[in-house]
Amino acid sequence: MQLGQTITQFIIEEQRRTGGTGEFTALLNDIFTACKNISSAVNKGALIGVLGSLESENVQGETQKKLDVITNDMMIKANEWGGHLAGMASEEMDDVYPIPAQYPRGKYLITFDPLDGSSNIDVNISVGTIFSILRCPEGVTDPQAEDFLQPGTKQVCAGYALYGPSTMMVITTGHGAHAFTLDQNVGEFMLTHPNLTIPADTREFAINASNERFWFPPVKRYVDECVAGKDGPRGANFNMRWVASMVAEVHRILTRGGVFMYPNDSRDPGRGGKLRLMYEANPMSFIVEQAGGVSSTGTERIMEVTPEGLHQRVPVILGSKNEVERIVAYHKEG
Ligand code: AHG
Ligand code: MN
Ligand code: MN
Repeated sequence: MQLGQTITQFIIEEQRRTGGTGEFTALLNDIFTACKNISSAVNKGALIGVLGSLESENVQGETQKKLDVITNDMMIKANEWGGHLAGMASEEMDDVYPIPAQYPRGKYLITFDPLDGSSNIDVNISVGTIFSILRCPEGVTDPQAEDFLQPGTKQVCAGYALYGPSTMMVITTGHGAHAFTLDQNVGEFMLTHPNLTIPADTREFAINASNERFWFPPVKRYVDECVAGKDGPRGANFNMRWVASMVAEVHRILTRGGVFMYPNDSRDPGRGGKLRLMYEANPMSFIVEQAGGVSSTGTERIMEVTPEGLHQRVPVILGSKNEVERIVAYHKEG
């Protein structure tokens, strides 16, 4: 691996090194093309009239932004024709998207969140695209929702694009997590941050503190102890951040460490938190674990959760190993 090499060269060489066939290199290239298109649309913003909301709601009852729908379409159009996929599932679509009959079907499935953090789009704060690649079960040519319901440990690849001051792509195929920066002039993602490593210790956490009154005791205890600072039981001052774009929070954690929490709470405990297992939690957990971090619901490794529905939500606590393990220990203590 060589700094400055293109993402395609990186993937092909990584597959050679690790004994993979590299069969999904072409699939990944289609995903990268979609993300470059999305980057361009997000970047032009109001100049091309893509900001703002629609009347519609998605399957989870959230008002859709224009760009939620546009970016979902970009992901579909870039990926449906290539012959590598048997089906797609997205946060923005109620049901599985089958590959149209005129195109060949392949052996992979993809799940994605086309625009993560879309509440930030109108205020020009970083957003992203998250994706996860699974194998289509043997013998299945017309995959249904249950064929996607594989635990995160089965992911072949996961990644996200971050549309920030730079557009970046972070991917893992299970051999470390690596970050690439889009050179807008060349139109390629270039390797800039190989082998991302999350420091095991941190003094920074991220949680939407407006939900404090709904938190369960383990989360409240952890945050209270951090906020108590130097004079509290931790004996150290902590810093807090909340971007409201999971991609941006995870990227910060991959860069300088930290903890990100969207826990379950007492508002609607049956819902199991806010973030979606198949489109957000699993791919991000795969990347975080590959960078040496930990990702848990508080009681269970996220990647070992058996999915029960495409749009299932899951509590998420991820980031620096020692802090996440501390929060998990607080859950055990009750
Ligand atoms: P999306 O825009 O795809 O619906 O995801 C938003 C998610 C996540 O990115 C972020 O961390 C969280 O929702 C923010 O939630 P709050 O608005 O409750 O803070
Ligand atoms: Mn999201
Ligand atoms: Mn989204």
